[in-house]
Amino acid sequence: MTAEVRVTTPAKINLCLGVGPVRPDGYHPLATVYQAVSMYDEVVLRPADRGSTAITVTVSGDGVDVTDVPCHEDNLAARAVRLLGEHVGRELLVSLHLRKRIPVAGGLAGGSSDAAAALLGADALFELHTPRAELAALAAELGSDVPFCLTGGTAMGSGRGEQVTSVMSRGEYWWLVVPDPDGLSTAAVYAELDRLRAGRSARPPEVPDALLAALRAGDIEGLGRALSNDLAPAAVSLRPSLAPLLRAGSECSAHGALVSGSGPTTLFLCESPDHAEQVGEALAAVAGRNGLELAPPVVARGPVHGARVTAVHR
Ligand code: C5P
Repeated sequence: MTAEVRVTTPAKINLCLGVGPVRPDGYHPLATVYQAVSMYDEVVLRPADRGSTAITVTVSGDGVDVTDVPCHEDNLAARAVRLLGEHVGRELLVSLHLRKRIPVAGGLAGGSSDAAAALLGADALFELHTPRAELAALAAELGSDVPFCLTGGTAMGSGRGEQVTSVMSRGEYWWLVVPDPDGLSTAAVYAELDRLRAGRSARPPEVPDALLAALRAGDIEGLGRALSNDLAPAAVSLRPSLAPLLRAGSECSAHGALVSGSGPTTLFLCESPDHAEQVGEALAAVAGRNGLELAPPVVARGPVHGARVTAVHR
């Protein structure tokens, strides 16, 4: 019997995020390109203590505020283990520990990534050998971003984001990731987008050809020009302090500035870690002038792998 499994799992960003009109099921059709970046949570799974009848969840924050992460069976990671148990017809009682470095409710899919890690980790802990395609189908039931978090790399997302196909991407990209001290609810940001659109029907979303061409060529300037996010106006409407940051990002030497997913984390495309540090200093100055509180920025590289088992202790 395996005693412990550790899984490392990345944050995701959206290089473009096209959002269509709301569907009858309440979700929005998406055309997006995801990239996994080098900010990682770790999920540690152990068999539950003898006599325990529930999945337990504990959480610790490594530089991030985890106050709002549910420490009970409703946590998406616990739901992932339960869903896998239903799939294989057996109760999988585990204790889960989430060591979080991905900002919570930041538009970086931290919760989705923990769920992807929990699926993979529980499969390894109980030696279930579930085929990858079945794990991906379970991931899609858990949330729109969860299948991508299993895969990682750079990939196109369609449907409500859960249909993932990999795309050609050359080279590596450096991002200055600027977390916001307070999170935003994804559902609230989509609702705000609907309110701002006020019944004006949005066109079916498409991934811009220019973005795919830039990725194929490893062209950072082309990528910077092609970055886009339909959710940005909604995130800025709910968090107006993002506006001066984004403006400063497009005025300083960054190749592009972007709201990450549903926000409020912002992203600045840079040439190197040193360049990212310079951009960070420029943004800190703008934040200071505007009286904004910035959480410490993180320099991240993409693309990186998806959720991955890093240790198995027997
Ligand atoms: O799929 P997930 O559970 O991560 O989505 C969280 C919320 O974000 C949904 O309940 C929905 O309100 C919104 N959403 C959406 N359209 C999508 C993805 C998410 O409206 N494609």
